[in-house]
Amino acid sequence: MKTTTKVFGLVAGLLAAASGFGLLAWLFSLQASAGLAQWGYGGYFTAVAVAAGLPLLLALAGLPWLRREESKLGAGLAVASIALAGLVIAGLAIGFGELQLRSRALTKPLPASNLVEPAAGIALRGPAGRDGGPVARLSLSSDPHWGKQSANAAARTATLKSLAAAQPARDAFFILGDNVEMGMDEAPWREEALELAALLPAMPLRPLLGNHDGLVNGEHHFRKYFFPDKFRTDSGSPFYYSIEAGPAKIIVLNLLWGAESFDAEQRAWLEKTLAATPTERPVIVLSHCFFASSGYVDEDTGMPWYDHFGTLAEVAPILERHKVDLVVSGHNHYMELLERNGVTYATIGALGGKPDPEPTFLSPSSLWFARGVYGRLDLDVSATSIALAFRDRDGGLLKEWTVKAAR
Ligand SMILES: [Fe+2]
Repeated sequence: MKTTTKVFGLVAGLLAAASGFGLLAWLFSLQASAGLAQWGYGGYFTAVAVAAGLPLLLALAGLPWLRREESKLGAGLAVASIALAGLVIAGLAIGFGELQLRSRALTKPLPASNLVEPAAGIALRGPAGRDGGPVARLSLSSDPHWGKQSANAAARTATLKSLAAAQPARDAFFILGDNVEMGMDEAPWREEALELAALLPAMPLRPLLGNHDGLVNGEHHFRKYFFPDKFRTDSGSPFYYSIEAGPAKIIVLNLLWGAESFDAEQRAWLEKTLAATPTERPVIVLSHCFFASSGYVDEDTGMPWYDHFGTLAEVAPILERHKVDLVVSGHNHYMELLERNGVTYATIGALGGKPDPEPTFLSPSSLWFARGVYGRLDLDVSATSIALAFRDRDGGLLKEWTVKAAR
């Protein structure tokens, strides 16, 4: 066996490793990938890294025999590395092509949606409050998981219908992420957009990105369906921004699995935005991932799905320092009301996604908790307070609470 074959084995190994590195770099540049690795699903990425590195390892193992043309072992290793490199490069190329095709599929025309453009704000359309001042009537729910068999489609539809019938009409409806089960598939995004257009034709809508929506390159469908290119935000990002809604200042954060998506840029923008907002204004932060929450340890991954170690450590201190009044999130499929260090938290993962397991951990911050109930959270925001109303799928009242705006 000639030395050139062995050198070629080395080159092939390097090419396979570079292909794997390229694919991983692309995956980690996408929303929700870093969290996937952190929250117990790193095996997918490890498998790519091992497969991509194996041909190079074989070629390197043959290096000591590089100049010994008679060595059968050296020759065998070189041929094995070339063959394996060919298989790995072909496999990675097919995988990349499949991910691109699936995540970029788009059926036209797109359903017409009445979407909230963050920079344009939310117009108040209802009557004034008892004191004659304006009231922002916001409704929120999360984790509908369109496209998931175990999601409760009937409860989701009932919740949307009761929202459409609410009087006075709500000013906007936020879906706090996990719109779909798997973001790279187009069908559930389309199903969602069609159902929202049919049931809530007049309702200004603002869906957020959740960890499931991001999978894999799901941000492409999110943008096409719910965040057109022409939409402007004060941050420049389609994933975090602020929205003016009469007396309410709404701040949307990009927290998918936890604080892994809270990069330096987002942190700096949040600090700047909160510093520029008078503390007497009602400030409401919305995010997919929760902060304080009751919950459980995931059986498959061993990860703790309760009082979030990432968001509580990295983000909550900023919210406390700037006296944010209320934080509403999803991610955990429960309804919960909590209070922690002067900030009120609400979880409203109740738009159809299968309820999470019965909690084995009750958050010390918990004030009220409900599992297996679908519905929404209504916020009536005046200049001085935020009235919360947790409602079931038919609009029936489950729990009321009032937060006074920090002064
Ligand atoms: Fe979810």
